[in-house]
Amino acid sequence: MRIMHVDASAKREHSNSRALSRYFLERLRERHVAFELDYLDVTVDTPPHVTEEFAIATYTPAEERTDSMKATLASSDALCARLLAADALVFAMPMYNWSMPSAFKAFIDSVTRTGLTYKFAADGSTVGQLGRQKVLFITSRGADLRAGSPYQSMDALTPALKAAFAFLGVKTPGFVDAQPLQFANPEARAQALERARAELDELAGQWAQWAKTTEAVGAARGATCGATRGAADEPLSATCEE
Ligand SMILES: Cc1cc2nc3c(=O)[nH]c(=O)nc-3n(C[C@H](O)[C@H](O)[C@H](O)COP(=O)(O)O)c2cc1C
Repeated sequence: MRIMHVDASAKREHSNSRALSRYFLERLRERHVAFELDYLDVTVDTPPHVTEEFAIATYTPAEERTDSMKATLASSDALCARLLAADALVFAMPMYNWSMPSAFKAFIDSVTRTGLTYKFAADGSTVGQLGRQKVLFITSRGADLRAGSPYQSMDALTPALKAAFAFLGVKTPGFVDAQPLQFANPEARAQALERARAELDELAGQWAQWAKTTEAVGAARGATCGATRGAADEPLSATCEE
C-alpha cells in the first residue's frame, strides 16, 4: 500500500501537527501495516499559486493545449499522479486564521484538475477520482473550537477540507483535531494532545484492518483478472481493468 503524507505547518520540530502525523504512521508500523511513503512538505515544495496561464490552461481540453500550456500544468499533473497513485492520504496541518495554511490551499488548487482528479459523467455531473483512497486529516488548533465552545462557529477549516475533497470523491474522511493547544494552559494542552493521540491509536487499528482487507481484495482481483503489477509499488487498481 502507498500512503501519501503531506505536512503543512510552518513550524518544524515544534510543530504539533507534524508530530501527530508522525505518531499516526508509527502506530501503523507498530501494527505491521506494510506501506510505502510518498512524503510532501508543502511548506518546502509549495505548489505554485494559480496564475493566469494556469487558470486558462487547466480548463482548456487536453488535446487543444499548446506546449506552453502543457508546461504550465506539468507540476500539477505530477502532483495529481502522486495523489491518484496513493491508496491512502494523511494530511496534517495547523489552523491559520480559522482556515488552512495557504501552502495547503495551493496544494488543493494544484490537485483539483478537470480530467485528472475529477471527470465528467455522461449526464454532466462531476465524478471525483479519489473514491478509493482512505483519507485522514490531522489538524492542530490554538483555540478550542469543539461543540459548545465560543469559537465553534469560527471553524472554516473543517468544512473547507470536507468540500474540497468531497468534490474529488472522498466520501468519509477521518478527522483528528488537536485542540486547544497554543492558546490554552499547559494542562489543557497536554489533555488535547492525549485525546488526539488516543483517537489516532484507534484510527490506526481501523486502518490496519482496512489494509488487510484491501490487500486481500487486491490479491483476489489480481488472481481473477490476471493482472500483473507494473512496478512493485503500483496499486493493483492501476493495472487491472475495471
Ligand atoms: C499565523 C497563525 C494563525 C493562527 N490562527 C489560528 C486560528 O485562527 N485559530 C486557532 O485556533 N489557532 C490559530 N493559530 C494557532 C495554531 O493553529 C496552533 O498553534 C497549532 O497548534 C499550530 O500547529 P503546528 O504546531 O503544527 O504548527 C494560529 C497560528 C499561527 C502561527
